Amino acid sequence: MTPVRQRAIATPAAALPSRTANGAESQGQLHFMAFTHTYVPLTAVAAGALSGRVRLPGDKSISHRAVMLGALAVGETVIEGLLEGDDVLATMEAMRAMGARISRSENGVRKVNGFGVGGALEPDRVIDFGNSGTGVRLAMAIAGSHAFATMFTGDASLVKRPMGRVTEPLRRMGAQVIARAGDMLPLAILGPERMTPIEYRLAVPSAQVKSAVLFAALNVPGTTTVIEPWPTRDHTERMFAGFGAGIEVTVNDNGERVIRLEGRPKLKPQNIVVPGDPSSAAFPIVAATIVPGSVVTVEGVLLNPTRTGLIATLLEMGAKLTIENERSVGGETVGDIRVEHAQLRGVTVPAARAPTMIDEYPVLAVAAAFAEGETIMEGIGELRLKESDRAATTLAGLRANGVDASEEKDRLIVRGRGAVMGGGTVVTEFDHRIAMSFIVMGLASEKPVTVDDATAISTSFPQFRDLMSGLGASIRPAQGESDAA
Ligand code: S3P
Repeated sequence: MTPVRQRAIATPAAALPSRTANGAESQGQLHFMAFTHTYVPLTAVAAGALSGRVRLPGDKSISHRAVMLGALAVGETVIEGLLEGDDVLATMEAMRAMGARISRSENGVRKVNGFGVGGALEPDRVIDFGNSGTGVRLAMAIAGSHAFATMFTGDASLVKRPMGRVTEPLRRMGAQVIARAGDMLPLAILGPERMTPIEYRLAVPSAQVKSAVLFAALNVPGTTTVIEPWPTRDHTERMFAGFGAGIEVTVNDNGERVIRLEGRPKLKPQNIVVPGDPSSAAFPIVAATIVPGSVVTVEGVLLNPTRTGLIATLLEMGAKLTIENERSVGGETVGDIRVEHAQLRGVTVPAARAPTMIDEYPVLAVAAAFAEGETIMEGIGELRLKESDRAATTLAGLRANGVDASEEKDRLIVRGRGAVMGGGTVVTEFDHRIAMSFIVMGLASEKPVTVDDATAISTSFPQFRDLMSGLGASIRPAQGESDAA
């Protein structure tokens, strides 16, 4: 029996978004407290083939940006298909705290009435971003480009993640930051009267850092330039252009992307349809691939080439994936992905592909465990800085379930034997993608797989369990638990 564990989280929990019966969020309130986190363990059991069609929640990256850009436009932005996970709810609370008005209609359509570029108000509360690295980094940039002080914090995982990669360019642009050692949360940021435009060459392949510089640059007179040696997801560039900002992307003689943004645009409100999240699609896609007899179609998945590294890798491994009904939705290509069970073989995943599948390595490692032969994932250093050290949590989860795997600084190696014993309990460290990846493993392993805590899944994919159960998956409270998940 897996015991229910509780732990006190020492971070002040301010303005936690809580949902009311009709799904609306409360406007944040300031209340400092040590809150207790109750672990909800879940067990996944192999229960035969998966079949059916599923539609996914909206893409998390686009959802954050849609809310923020709606807040930075003057007038009403309408967002259909917004992801209503905890991370995006936290972004909505932050934008409300800076003066945006956001409403929700019966069918989940959101209307954002923005404050305009340079028009944010000083928040009268600490902004708590919970688990969301993207949310806090981009909101720090928006707040930090205004001449007021904003305080940010996050949950037990977020306060361990590096913020220096964003505070460093913001400082160069003129913001002052008071933070814990290593520029970790909680921190306070005070924007200058007038930020300075900079030329910024990314030191790490991070769309969050690129986007933070660009979001700050919206409120900077003049041209800000970001040079990106490795292409990362380009939603910020596409959406800035869609909202009417003067943004130009070229490739220089070294093959690097050069992004130039004219500051102080008047952003025009948009109607946005958020495509299905490929990082969430990864779970039913890998599940159908490893569970014998399965045939599943995942509808409306975003197919932006900066996000499709997992699909390319699975195809190289011998997966049976077909893209159907390819179409354009709001300037992005989407399609339905039909997946059939397939016996996979190990491959080497090159480092250059990492930015296009950075969130998908844990579930790729699960697929690799069911493959024949060695899968080598190269250039995975950034994985160590996610909601958990994902190289370490993935490796521990694999080993707990009898999979032969090892890690080096920048590589994760899985030696697949075509089948997985299972039977282990995986420590998720409040990391949603670790929880979902190992639940997927349990759907095809010989013995059930338990994850110690499934609560983090609601940060990005609240419908995960229902959606997978609808395909025939058996995911239930760990033995001895009541059904609270
Ligand atoms: C994101 C970028 C990625 C990714 C995260 C979302 C974004 O982070 O891991 O889940 O929306 O820009 P990095 O860009 O820091 O790698």
